[in-house]
Amino acid sequence: MATNRTFTMIKPDAVGNNYIGPILAKINEAGFRIVAMKYTKLSPEAAGKFYEVHKARPFYGELVEYMSSGAIVAAILEKDNAVADFRKLIGATDPAKAEPGTIRNLFAKSIAANAVHGSDSDENADAEGNFFFAGSERF
Ligand code: RTP
Ligand code: MG
Repeated sequence: MATNRTFTMIKPDAVGNNYIGPILAKINEAGFRIVAMKYTKLSPEAAGKFYEVHKARPFYGELVEYMSSGAIVAAILEKDNAVADFRKLIGATDPAKAEPGTIRNLFAKSIAANAVHGSDSDENADAEGNFFFAGSERF
């Protein structure tokens, strides 16, 4: 059964391009409530651990280097059908294929630097949220 929470990161390209505000506005307008939020930077070790599921993929090294290259914003978001609705809001992995009006269509430059992360399942949303946030950091 679908839970009502997902996990997101605003990635280093979007933070560097000053898109934190506009992306949070989109998230807000789409009806998500912010449960937890953190402005931080991943070490290469932490990024490697976070993306461990992609370890066998050819882009893993590039992904880990990229995700630890600058500050990110991590957040847990709440809404009915959160995982699927958030994936719809961010659009396809490759911004060139992302629907008009989606966050990646509006703010991402490339498949590697694609502005935001969105969990792909309830199980991963839970695990990813736990990676960043203690119970006392959720509201
Ligand atoms: P995400 O996990 O970040 O929300 O992205 P996603 O589900 O849409 O895509 P996924 O397949 O999980 O890939 C994770 C991230 O790896 C980078 N990537 N680079 N160079 C490439 O061909 C390539 N493919 C994927 C992207 O940053 C992608 O978001
Ligand atoms: Mg993914």
